[in-house]
Amino acid sequence: MTDSADRDTADWDIASGVGLTALATAACRAVETLREPPLVRDPYAGAFVQAARAPTPMPVTPQEADGDQTFPWPEFARYVGVRSRLFDELSLTAVADGLRQVVILAAGLDTRAFRLDWPPGVTAYEVDAPRVLAFKDQVLAGAGARPRCARRAVLADLRGRWTPALLTAGLDPASPVAWLAEGLLPYLSDEEKDRLLAGMRELSAPGSRIAIEHFAGMDSMRDYAAFTEAPRLNNVDFDVTALWAHEEATDPGPWLARIGWSVDARPIADVAAGYGRPLPATLPEGMLSAVMITARLT
Ligand SMILES: C[S@@+](CC[C@H](N)C(=O)[O-])C[C@H]1O[C@@H](n2cnc3c(N)ncnc32)[C@H](O)[C@@H]1O
Repeated sequence: MTDSADRDTADWDIASGVGLTALATAACRAVETLREPPLVRDPYAGAFVQAARAPTPMPVTPQEADGDQTFPWPEFARYVGVRSRLFDELSLTAVADGLRQVVILAAGLDTRAFRLDWPPGVTAYEVDAPRVLAFKDQVLAGAGARPRCARRAVLADLRGRWTPALLTAGLDPASPVAWLAEGLLPYLSDEEKDRLLAGMRELSAPGSRIAIEHFAGMDSMRDYAAFTEAPRLNNVDFDVTALWAHEEATDPGPWLARIGWSVDARPIADVAAGYGRPLPATLPEGMLSAVMITARLT
């Protein structure tokens, strides 16, 4: 089942604009899946990269990542692997504690609905741009993938009025929700972040949870040479830094605490160290200092 809202504005595909960042994230998961031991196991990630007509080369194996002289793929794959694993764990903890609605905001090519061991009765709602989710469905269908929970694709622009689409897709605001938001906030202005958080609050019954990735140092990201060097070396016209809003007044932790959520914040560097896979110091400062915010509503 799908529903739509603002489908005209979120018009990018998987090989352009912010859609390409979903593909790069899948490439990172493909690489990490084949590391020993893997931080995350995503059997579909490589198929996305192979099916897409990406304007720039992307690895699907550790060998390809390690051999790429144009972009530090191994470091980025480590970061994405740590983040994906943490969000996998938070998702499974939420459903083990009885929540049955999981909303993955800016789901991109995330395949949690297909690869995690969900208990009966779970519905995963995946919110992203129509063409990103259409590409994902097409590749997963080609791979014979079957969701392991009820899955709803929600076609919406998270900068606009996205909550009606989620309700039309079946979300029950009277039951608690586990919200996930990875790799999303840098693309939203502060005003859009505020509206996003307010929308999440509006649909959150007591017992709801949030897991959200927050970058507090986006300025350092703008100056990270590989973001501009890699497109130049690969002769590609793509500037990821131009996609970021570079606005950081909204810190979701204090924002949520002010309206009654119990908030916890863990630096991703600590999470990575806890997995025995520390973040490489060569990553941009903004990623090294990223914080994984979790919140609960009682
Ligand atoms: C870096 S990717 C992360 C994807 C996914 N969360 C993951 O970790 O694999 C960013 C995603 O945000 C989505 N996105 C960015 N801005 C959005 C918006 N305004 N509305 C809906 N999706 C958006 C993009 O389409 C893309 O899939």
